[in-house]
Amino acid sequence: VVGKSTNVVWQQRMVTREERQNLLQQKGCVVWMTGLSGSGKSTLACTLEHLLFKRGNLSYVLDGDNLRHGLNKNLGFSAEDRAENIRRIGEVAKIFVDAGIICIASAISPYRKDRDACRELLQPGEFIEVYMKFPLSLCEERDPKGLYKLARAGKIKGFTGIDDPYEEPINCEMVMELVDGRCPTPKEMAGRLLFYLEERG
Ligand code: PPS
Repeated sequence: VVGKSTNVVWQQRMVTREERQNLLQQKGCVVWMTGLSGSGKSTLACTLEHLLFKRGNLSYVLDGDNLRHGLNKNLGFSAEDRAENIRRIGEVAKIFVDAGIICIASAISPYRKDRDACRELLQPGEFIEVYMKFPLSLCEERDPKGLYKLARAGKIKGFTGIDDPYEEPINCEMVMELVDGRCPTPKEMAGRLLFYLEERG
């Protein structure tokens, strides 16, 4: 993004990131869920938030769908608008990390370069990309909002997985997928993620 904000100076603060982390007794990071609509991103995000809360950790879910009601309400689903959507979510997530909070971002984020740009905003190890690798057929069968049906009927154009691309992650930190043809429960997946976060402090 070419910056238009000129003549701006970074304001120094009086409380450091380390001091905030000490106060909260945790380090901030971003858990970034990516995958098709209906792959279970939001459910997993909320389940993880709940698990962390019960454990005494402060986390906050940034849900693509929800943010499109406010911060991102002026954006549609063209490649440019999706890129801007993801850029904004990434920048907000970065602020959460600076605040010492575990930010759980959940957005289709179909383009690799947009996800990678969010990763670049953070320090190594702070961006945990989680790919919800569930087949289109399963997501379409679930169709929780009836959007796949509308997309198949041509009533929604450019729907991810139908007539718009989804670029799979190449080197993500975690992949959620079918085990022996069975979909793991949100609790199982959140437990796996919690273990990952605990292991890395
Ligand atoms: S993106 O691609 O990351 O910018 O999308 P995101 O902000 O996560 O928003 C996805 C939700 O928007 C609804 N929706 C669509 N999804 C994909 N393609 C098209 N054209 C579209 N139009 C509306 C849909 O409910 C997505 O919600 P989830 O939670 O992913 O099911």
